[in-house]
Amino acid sequence: MINYKEVLLKKFQESNNPKAIKRYEHSLCVAKRAVEIIKEHNLNIDIKKAETAALLHDYAKFLTMDDFFEIVKENNLPSEILENDYIILHALLGPYVIKKELGIEDQEILDAVKYHTTGKANMDPLQEVLFVADFTEELRPNVENIREISKRDYKRAIALILEYTINLLISRKRKINPLSLEAFDYYRKYLVLDLSKIKKVVKTIEDDHNLVKDIKVYDARQNTPYYDFVIIATSPSLRQMKAAANYLKMEFAPRMIEDGDFWVLIDLNDIIIHIFLEEQREYYGLDKLLKDVPEIELD
Ligand SMILES: [Fe+2]
Ligand SMILES: [Fe+2]
Repeated sequence: MINYKEVLLKKFQESNNPKAIKRYEHSLCVAKRAVEIIKEHNLNIDIKKAETAALLHDYAKFLTMDDFFEIVKENNLPSEILENDYIILHALLGPYVIKKELGIEDQEILDAVKYHTTGKANMDPLQEVLFVADFTEELRPNVENIREISKRDYKRAIALILEYTINLLISRKRKINPLSLEAFDYYRKYLVLDLSKIKKVVKTIEDDHNLVKDIKVYDARQNTPYYDFVIIATSPSLRQMKAAANYLKMEFAPRMIEDGDFWVLIDLNDIIIHIFLEEQREYYGLDKLLKDVPEIELD
């Protein structure tokens, strides 16, 4: 069994690049984050395969333009590929390097490495995981928002990463790779507000069982990375409040429920539901606290 961590460290050390250790640590963290994403979303991806792809994704990072030229020649690739930015070449040509030097033949690994920088439309699960892990690994600064979102909605994270990258390139007047544009065109649908789960929550506690009233739904996506929506409702009695929480528990398997004598919080990860008894809703004034958060009207 090859230890790819050692292989990578040796390769980077040979580059004599001052950034080698930083990039090595980055690669280890991408591997760690890839495994986390697979577990967070229960994805059917071989962990070892994901780790290998993640450890080797930047393997070609410190090659020179001369090296890239050689790879293109050796593999009879169209020379136009060299017109890509240097920063993209380590990804596009990385698969040829790890195939030749390390004997990696697994096409899924090779493709995940190839698209880790640009993304592409309709990536396979391993490509998606590596793309997100590369951006959200723990050492990368200033990406807390997207990192948090990737924990509960990694497809939306892909769309946000692409949007961020494209905007950054535009602001720097740099060329945008067509693969990234196609990718954004494909993944932008995950930025669109999906009300189906909220409607199901409301149906469960209000329409089906009539346990709450005065429901308000807040769209907190611009206000916090930790959840998407807040629902506040009032129950006429303690019994009905507990029953509402119970129905939600059966229907959605919440991450957490906290209940007291006049308030219950149900955390569905993306949706936080607060149910109060009437007087306490007024008293605690959560609606007032959320006054700057846009409200959603459900029809
Ligand atoms: Fe990279
Ligand atoms: Fe990377």
